Amino acid sequence: MQPQALGLGSLVAILLFVSCGSEQEGASTAPVTGPDTNFHVMDPHSAARPEEAVIQHLDLDIRVDMDSERIAGTATYTLKSGHADQVIFDTDSLDIESVELPDGKPLEYALSHAGLLGSPLTVQIPKDADKLTIRYATTKGARALQWLSPRQTHDKQKPFLFTQGEAILTRTWIPIQDSPGIRFTYNAHVQVPKDLLAVMSATNPQERSADGKYSFTMDKPIPAYLMALAVGDIAFKPVGPRTGVYAEPGVVDTAAWELADMEHMVEAAEKLYGPYRWDRYDVLVLPPSFPFGGMENPRLTFATPTILAGDRSLTALVAHELAHSWSGNLVTNATWNDFWLNEGFTVYFEKRICEQLYGKEYASMLALLGYQDLKGTVAKLDAAGDSADTRLKLDLTGRDPDDGMTDVAYEKGYSFLKRLETAAGREKFDAFLRGYFDHFAFQGMTTERFLDYLNAKLIQPEHLQVDVHQWVYEPGIPKDLVMPTSDAFAKVEHELDRWKNGTPARDLDTRDWVTFQWMHFLRHLPEGLSDKKMDDLDNTFQFTRSGNSEVVAVWLEQCVKNDHEQAYDRLDSFLTTVGRRKFLTPLYEALIKTEKGKALAMNIYKAARPNYHAVSVRTIDDLLNWKQMSDPVTL
Ligand code: BES
Ligand code: ZN
Repeated sequence: MQPQALGLGSLVAILLFVSCGSEQEGASTAPVTGPDTNFHVMDPHSAARPEEAVIQHLDLDIRVDMDSERIAGTATYTLKSGHADQVIFDTDSLDIESVELPDGKPLEYALSHAGLLGSPLTVQIPKDADKLTIRYATTKGARALQWLSPRQTHDKQKPFLFTQGEAILTRTWIPIQDSPGIRFTYNAHVQVPKDLLAVMSATNPQERSADGKYSFTMDKPIPAYLMALAVGDIAFKPVGPRTGVYAEPGVVDTAAWELADMEHMVEAAEKLYGPYRWDRYDVLVLPPSFPFGGMENPRLTFATPTILAGDRSLTALVAHELAHSWSGNLVTNATWNDFWLNEGFTVYFEKRICEQLYGKEYASMLALLGYQDLKGTVAKLDAAGDSADTRLKLDLTGRDPDDGMTDVAYEKGYSFLKRLETAAGREKFDAFLRGYFDHFAFQGMTTERFLDYLNAKLIQPEHLQVDVHQWVYEPGIPKDLVMPTSDAFAKVEHELDRWKNGTPARDLDTRDWVTFQWMHFLRHLPEGLSDKKMDDLDNTFQFTRSGNSEVVAVWLEQCVKNDHEQAYDRLDSFLTTVGRRKFLTPLYEALIKTEKGKALAMNIYKAARPNYHAVSVRTIDDLLNWKQMSDPVTL
């Protein structure tokens, strides 16, 4: 069905709004409009105008068709509008079939031209309207969705679907006001094939229903990027009274063993920064194409299976996603320019949970690996002329937010909080953070709003001498960063020196080394290693055959850098099965540095690309110039 035509005037108004929205970004902080949770600021990545009409609740009624790879149904919104005559939704690559009032009366609407933000949908509403329904369907262009064939799953029996909303992809599967500063509650009715289970970022079933119908409730207001759905042959296993693991039947036991500490993590987190407000905390372990390590969907973290190392050594990732239940899901970056408020706080919180559970040395190693990442990222951005992206407060106007989301938000953000902790003392800093989460619970947060609070509650009363402005608004790594130290890493460096000086690998003292030590060792191998030297390492430590994804990933990167062909079969299989972007990017980047590597990269990518999620495809397409290179004439 064609959209009903709007007058030209309204269209012009829409387009005008979109462009002036960009210009005004950061300039104004509109007042709090709701009594409760909506702190509205100009968001350059959403066309919604919450100050006119904002969604407060969503009732979703959808059918998931695994064969035609389509979601279709209705979305009914409860609106709050100050007598506005229109409401604007974000949509991207959606088929909009109709928009109507509860009594069935059709409403006029218009979709504007597709651009960076998708196609904003403007609906004309009567002044007293408080509800409307959109009938819609997803299309092949829905970048939030990855539809997997049975072959792409672990058990190889049934198809699988999962969504990824952050940053601005929810609008590709639900028409929504897709700004992290806008929150709403939701209910969902989801129909899936009878032999599959559906789970969401909401109350979840623990077993299959007879008819493939599932109902969900999220009664806490959340931003759109935290809407999430997965459908597949999914089983559940409890880990603790309010924690558990969902995964394919062939993975669920392994996953529950690996993540056995989840309940303790929740307890540790609560002790630090107050009650866990989301009732249950479960983790869904996805098939390997999941483009991230983890995604903090409320009540149900989505995670990559590459954290299943077999020795519980990679569970800091769960601490990280759990920490988002406070930093991110409770107090939320109001725009993607404030992304460091989500990730920097979460990295800080994650390390505190890990310190509680696994000790100071563990947390220090994590912090040092993070610092190495930060240094690497800043050097890369500087070299590319993108030093502006090394600031905590970003300006992503006119860009896909995904392009500005780097380790800077995570690790420089962490380092800033660590600097504040050091200046204030841990006790005062913890009290400050706890107060912050309580005070701003279920609200959006801008960098400026945070800095006002920080100033009033910590900097002024404690007379802290920290150059906050430099940390937040200037590029690069401030000199007063508190450098972590680690005895465990000092040992690694000592043994690495011995190896460099000719001691064979088998004579190195690597007893009781943990994963982080191996990562540190491998990250610091010298350049230009011969096959003989690489073989010495691999024959002794079996890196190529390691089941630890973090170790394999950095080992394979070294193999590419040293053109160690013996590992290329493993490289090929790793790159074709794993879709986690953090692993893919450095490997492809290393490959394209030489002509030989470039050819190999192209070959592998050709086979691997169909297995990757759209998020990873976009990054690697860019990196490899895939669109030009894959011209049908040349391939
Ligand atoms: N929220 C992020 C994932 C994300 C970031 C998705 C930006 C889309 C856009 C998640 O919490 C995260 O940070 N994941 C990390 C793991 C973590 C241990 C650093 C990842 O996926 O590697
Ligand atoms: Zn995170």
